[in-house]
Amino acid sequence: MKNDFLLFHKPFISEDEINEIVDTVRSGWLSMGPKTIRFENKFSEYLGVKKSVAVSSWTAAGHLTLEAFGIKAGDEVIVPTMTFPATAEIVCYFNAKPVIVDVEEATLNISLEEIEKAITPKTKAIIPVHYGGQPCDMDEIQEIADKHNLKVLEDAAHALPATYKGKKIGTISDVTCFSFYATKTLSTGEGGMICSNDEELAERCMIMRMHGINRDAWKRYTDSGSWYYEVVAPGYKYNFTDIQASLGLPQLKKVDQMWQSRQGIAAKYTEALKDLDTIQLHTVKPDRESSWHLFPIRLHLDRLTKNRAQIINELRQKNIGVGVHFMPVHQHLYYNETFNLSDKDFPVASGVFPRLMSLPIYPGMTDKNVDRVIEVLVDTLKEFKK
Ligand SMILES: Cc1ncc(COP(=O)(O)O)c(C=O)c1O
Repeated sequence: MKNDFLLFHKPFISEDEINEIVDTVRSGWLSMGPKTIRFENKFSEYLGVKKSVAVSSWTAAGHLTLEAFGIKAGDEVIVPTMTFPATAEIVCYFNAKPVIVDVEEATLNISLEEIEKAITPKTKAIIPVHYGGQPCDMDEIQEIADKHNLKVLEDAAHALPATYKGKKIGTISDVTCFSFYATKTLSTGEGGMICSNDEELAERCMIMRMHGINRDAWKRYTDSGSWYYEVVAPGYKYNFTDIQASLGLPQLKKVDQMWQSRQGIAAKYTEALKDLDTIQLHTVKPDRESSWHLFPIRLHLDRLTKNRAQIINELRQKNIGVGVHFMPVHQHLYYNETFNLSDKDFPVASGVFPRLMSLPIYPGMTDKNVDRVIEVLVDTLKEFKK
């Protein structure tokens, strides 16, 4: 890679994380232990939620949540198409059906009308995804869920920290799951968190993340350790580790600072790009704050001589890394064939996807980096304007 290539993402790691990892490695406690518990407690404190359960990924978090909801073969769970396939695959783990629905034009978040249309007597849960970090219409989603007696699992893989009507994402519905994957707004390399005010549900997730070993056996991770444990269900090996917590603890301390940086970059991009007639910016609804995990833009292909792939290539040639989030789930081979899905049933996502790309947005970017992205993008769009 060329030296002056601006990566699409770079984790924001400082000496604090490095020192914490060295301390953990020196302590000899490498798997789940006291730092994981501290990270969970600090995370709950930060959000203002009763329970946080740290696990190996968002995918593990979502799987454990659906298990705790009691999802069974033949049940249906509503999932938006504009997401990473993990949101849908966790439903398949139960031989249940992910009922994939279209998103709304403005935000690419799940469409309320499509949720209503998709509900059947078999529907058990809804998984709204806060696309790019912008919260979904949670009041309306909760209202639909209450009306039909459905559970809500918020996919907040992008949404730390984000707020909806002044409430932090993570404190609103039955369960919220976060991702700490390498590119996320708080990164532990890999990792995830289940947050809930339902202590019974959190307890079930804690048991199932570690082979179904019962709660009392957790004492073996504390000073009052014991050799005795009991397995109460065939669980999973989804635990977090103290090495991951060594990244998570210092990252959590600066999670607001990192958000402010991304917010500043988003404001700069918005100001510089809002009047271009070759792209459309994402709408942010006024009663919520995005985490700004992504800064998506949509190309007006009818006003350009090149397609998205060619423009991305051009930007890469000019040393700017960009991403695409996401190829809609209904277009992926497995989901497309298994559930017989067609683009015409997803007019918004299918229409937006070929035009969609994400600009780099992360705290390590300097003002100069941001200016360069703007300049290169504006020049490229000018060059390829019809
Ligand atoms: C919206 C969304 N949900 C779920 C996931 C899965 O997260 P993880 O890699 O932590 O399992 C991702 C990861 O990219 C994502 O973007």
